[in-house]
Amino acid sequence: MRVLVTGGTGFIGSHTVVSLMEAGHEVVVLDNLSNSHRSVTRRIGEIVGTAPEFHQADIRDTERLADLASDGFDACMHFAALKAVGESVEDPLGYYENNVGGTISLLQVLLDAGVQNFVFSSSCTVYGEPLSLPLTEDMPIGTATNPYGWSKIMMEQVLRDVRVANPDWTVTLLRYFNPVGAHPSGLIGEDPMGVPSNLMPYVAKVAFGELPKVQVFGNDYDTHDGTGVRDYIHVVDLAEGHVAALDRHFDDPGTHIYNLGTGQGSSVLEIINAYELASGQPVPYEVVGRRAGDVGANWADASKAQQHLEWATKRDLAEMCADSWRWQQKAR
Ligand code: NAD
Ligand code: UD1
Repeated sequence: MRVLVTGGTGFIGSHTVVSLMEAGHEVVVLDNLSNSHRSVTRRIGEIVGTAPEFHQADIRDTERLADLASDGFDACMHFAALKAVGESVEDPLGYYENNVGGTISLLQVLLDAGVQNFVFSSSCTVYGEPLSLPLTEDMPIGTATNPYGWSKIMMEQVLRDVRVANPDWTVTLLRYFNPVGAHPSGLIGEDPMGVPSNLMPYVAKVAFGELPKVQVFGNDYDTHDGTGVRDYIHVVDLAEGHVAALDRHFDDPGTHIYNLGTGQGSSVLEIINAYELASGQPVPYEVVGRRAGDVGANWADASKAQQHLEWATKRDLAEMCADSWRWQQKAR
């Protein structure tokens, strides 16, 4: 299949481009490089043998997109978005404009061009405060605690409505849990600008000696050791989930929703311990107060994806930490 990948030089997009190309698909990457680097396509080329076709463009540039889409795509995987939670609180209009407005203008171009298969990067953040665990796809959408989270909830709704109005469309909403790790080659990974706000990239910098210690946000949650529990998923497993979803639902009109997680939660202290083991470096930490907007625990029921997509995660926490550490050392 010929697939348009927006945000394809970013963290999850780049790993998915590798998996798509390895599975034999033809990929066209579009990215405005606001949070990634041009060199990623060369690095993808080193991994798979050929670099993907690349266009530096914004999803809101309708003319440019229409021109690209006129060549024909079988599907679009849409990763392009701004994703810094704190920044979204400070700049809600910028976030809604880029994420929601950008998605709407992309969808219009695809509709006009007759592209009918759309795979969307959603997030477990749409569940809000869990009613019970594990989280299943049929649970109600919750309340977001920030504009980034709301933008995912809004876009899911926009996509459901677009699909109702266009019965031939196939929309797949993939709700990611916590993607971490990097490609085992050490050539691509997550490259957060400035001080990371997510746990694993932060821990990586502490192990590397770039930051002094991890601040553990609360040890009074109702979890086995009191620290926050999340479902961490290796980014290569996540990427493979996209290829499985595209294959399974290529010609299958409807709205399909999947959790992409491992089905297992790990606490902040377990991540710190696993990272120390993988890196052989100490990871000092101090416990501080809870971070506003955090839920205590959150993990997926991953059985729907396992059954329908014939996909399952293969990489454990030790591998996630080892690959993150390799990337941390090589990336500098
Ligand atoms: P990322 O920032 O590494 O990648 C996003 C890419 O989109 C970047 O390369 C950026 O330059 C590009 N981009 C942003 N706005 C654009 C625009 N208007 N036009 C063209 N390109 C644009 O982020 P990521 O972690 O790879 O996330 C990919 C997707 O997955 C996002 O939609 C994100 O919200 C979603 N997601 C991420 C996580 C996570 O923990 N990383 C979790 C759940 C969902
Ligand atoms: C966060 C976002 C979520 C987004 C996801 C991926 C919030 C409230 N949620 O999820 O919307 O989809 O990132 O970008 O920001 N922790 C520490 N110390 C740290 C960092 C994190 O103790 O320095 C803890 C957190 O309290 C949490 C766990 O580690 O228990 C994971 O945090 P993080 O990696 O930021 O992911 P989420 O909070 O799950």
